[in-house]
Amino acid sequence: MKLLDFDYFPREDVDRKLNFLLGLNTGTISFNGDYTIVVGPKGSGKSTTVAHALDGKPWVKLIQVHSGLEVKEFREMVDDVLGLKSHPRFLEGCRRGGHAMTIVFDVETGPSSELVQVIRKTAKYMAINANVIIILSEAYLAMDFAGSEPRERFVWVSELTAAQATAYVAAKIDKTDKGETADTLKSAMNAYIQQVSRNPKMLDSCIDRLKEGEKIDEIISKEIKTATRDINAFQLKPIIEALKVHPEGVSRLDFAGQVCTYKDGEKVKWAKLSFPKDVAPAMKECKAIIYHYPTGEYRPYSTAHANALKMLHQQGDCLSIF
Ligand SMILES: Nc1ncnc2c1ncn2[C@@H]1O[C@H](COP(=O)(O)OP(=O)(O)O)[C@@H](O)[C@H]1O
Ligand SMILES: [Mg+2]
Repeated sequence: MKLLDFDYFPREDVDRKLNFLLGLNTGTISFNGDYTIVVGPKGSGKSTTVAHALDGKPWVKLIQVHSGLEVKEFREMVDDVLGLKSHPRFLEGCRRGGHAMTIVFDVETGPSSELVQVIRKTAKYMAINANVIIILSEAYLAMDFAGSEPRERFVWVSELTAAQATAYVAAKIDKTDKGETADTLKSAMNAYIQQVSRNPKMLDSCIDRLKEGEKIDEIISKEIKTATRDINAFQLKPIIEALKVHPEGVSRLDFAGQVCTYKDGEKVKWAKLSFPKDVAPAMKECKAIIYHYPTGEYRPYSTAHANALKMLHQQGDCLSIF
């Protein structure tokens, strides 16, 4: 199945881990009931990385779970894509026949928690007979998932490193521009990489904005302002305070025993700060500003958030100029 229609920028760590988990290196897949969850910020390259790993492989079924899909519609879609109505034991048959069937649930933003739980159950059930991958973006959903199910294996697709991002934009720019124009674009993008983001989708959109005539200083200051505003709107302040001092990330265990209240619409609720599951609902109330990283750390959502936190710290907390 052909899944990718543009040049792929290799991501060694992620590519290797995904290939290993999917048994793509050896071609033999053991159906031990585990399934893989690919998580990371929106635009970090999850769908692309999975598409690359599976590109050209037979027996791949991609199920796009778009936002607003009802549980019933989801079930119908799965039956439809896999032909389960006419062949209810299709997956079992594939396994018996020695085929490595791979099913990808690519979950876009905004699914209901109910739907996510159904997807998870479906994955768990199917994983006995097939390779199953769930791609998840929403920061609060990924938090909700953290470590609660032993059969789930996680692959983290985060932003590119600064060096990768530089190579990524250089390759893009060289395709369309030459000489001074290319150099100017690259140097503007370098500032963006240092201060705002190494997220491929955001890098793409920044190149577009520069080509449309926007100025790099304005783009950067807008992004930092937005990040600052979103950070100030997050209600679980102790996490923010800790991140201001350690913008590279703070261990969730640093918050053991700490409880914090937050407003969920009209209601006042409380959260144990060391529990990502508790932090998740509070995250739902604002824009994604932090992530729960597999090492057990809360990390800023992007370089812009990390820089905004640093600036807030330097300015002396609430003296925010924004
Ligand atoms: N490894 C990559 N190589 C080339 N382009 C990439 C790569 N990763 C991401 N991109 C670009 O970034 C965009 C967003 O990536 P995508 O995989 O859709 O992100 P996600 O699924 O994490 O939201 C893609 O459309 C593509 O243009
Ligand atoms: Mg995607």
